[in-house]
Amino acid sequence: MKLLVLGSGGREHALAWKLHESQKMDELYCAPGNAGIAQEAECRAVDLTDTKGIVELAKNLRADLTIAGPEAPLVAGVVDEFEREGLGIIGPSKAAARLEGSKIFAKEFMRRHNIPTARFEVAESYENALKALSRFSLPVVIKADGLAAGKGVRIASDHTEAAQALDDFMLQKTLGDAGERVVIEECLSGEETSFIILTDGRGILPLVPTQDHKALLDGDQGPNTGGMGAYSDDSLLSELQHDEIIRSIVAPTLAGMEMEGARYRGFLYFGLMMTVAGPMMLEYNVRLGDPEAQPILMRLRSDLGDLLMAMREGNLATVDVHWSPNPAVCVVLASKGYPGKPEIDKPITGYEAVETLGGVKIFHAGTKLQDHLLLTSGGRVMGVTATAQDLPSAIQRAYAGVSKLQFEGMQYRRDIGAKAQARAPNTVMSRQTRSPRGARQLPGK
Ligand code: AMP
Ligand code: GLY
Repeated sequence: MKLLVLGSGGREHALAWKLHESQKMDELYCAPGNAGIAQEAECRAVDLTDTKGIVELAKNLRADLTIAGPEAPLVAGVVDEFEREGLGIIGPSKAAARLEGSKIFAKEFMRRHNIPTARFEVAESYENALKALSRFSLPVVIKADGLAAGKGVRIASDHTEAAQALDDFMLQKTLGDAGERVVIEECLSGEETSFIILTDGRGILPLVPTQDHKALLDGDQGPNTGGMGAYSDDSLLSELQHDEIIRSIVAPTLAGMEMEGARYRGFLYFGLMMTVAGPMMLEYNVRLGDPEAQPILMRLRSDLGDLLMAMREGNLATVDVHWSPNPAVCVVLASKGYPGKPEIDKPITGYEAVETLGGVKIFHAGTKLQDHLLLTSGGRVMGVTATAQDLPSAIQRAYAGVSKLQFEGMQYRRDIGAKAQARAPNTVMSRQTRSPRGARQLPGK
């Protein structure tokens, strides 16, 4: 099989790494890729918002299947374009990608289908937004409607901060059109879990659960980022919680999309808050999470090529998937200035030493090779991902890898996975209760 991966982050490096070892793979391409991906696949230049350009590339490469990593090409309608041309691609249609492309669409969809989520109001003008604010208690959450690369959500602890967020988004237009309309919503508390599935529209395959660390600094302080680290461990969800998520959130989402004429296919990410009242939806992403993909794919034992083939043929429900019981942890190294304007072109040293450590893998994100030197080229530079028999050992391994790496201005969190270690062992998130791991048929299919 000839496969094309779209994207250039740690998620795409992890996909390319798993696909590179697939028995089914004859040729593997990635566009645009990065210096790490170039070790596993042949990289080609592409503009990820140019859907016609992506189709041309897939045709030229004679790719049997394309897999879209990030949201931009999906929201721009790359899947519809591929389907018009009869080309194979994994991902949702443009209509289905609105689950991520518009927070207003997503929240109203959740309301239409009784999917548990925070109470909210939509505002289309600054004046109405200010009025709506008065109907919420503090802290309050302000969300820009459109895509904003992790910068479109503000949690305001007082009225001044909330008004500032509205001013930035709606009057100063700091996010361009994305902030023209906003969602104002109640602030939920609990632990966050990233629950990601793969679906072909008939069967669903829940991936192992993960927890992201969105804030820049230790202790969840500082601005939100795309994700500074993630871990995957079965203890994140009990079997009961897993089943409740499927019943109250996943199944009504897929049934709702189908009912509205936009059957969902591809990876679907449910960003959840595990509240005392049960799991509640924060947001959908129409793709694998990044950095969540790195620990998830490190735990996948099955051949990813097989899974994607089954997905393409609509046989996902029949697939037997194997996961390592061992947890995995990913620590992201970011450039100085991230999540604002990152300082780039800094030489990276120490990566050869990491490759010699057992159970550790560097997934590259913003890296490039120039005159045989590995340089930084973006905000998130790489994710050091490790697996071991238990979570403390996996964390220790990941940080042993981190300690060998260096570039000017390197920043990272020191507490990835720490919340899990602090959690009392006899809470609902018990390690004894493992989530069922197989693929399953959707009700009524
Ligand atoms: P989103 O892009 O909607 O996932 O929001 C980004 C992050 O903001 C989430 O991962 C949460 O940490 C936080 N967040 C979003 N909505 C809420 C909410 N209603 N209550 C508390 N935190 C939230
Ligand atoms: N790590 C969260 C995301 O991929 O959006």
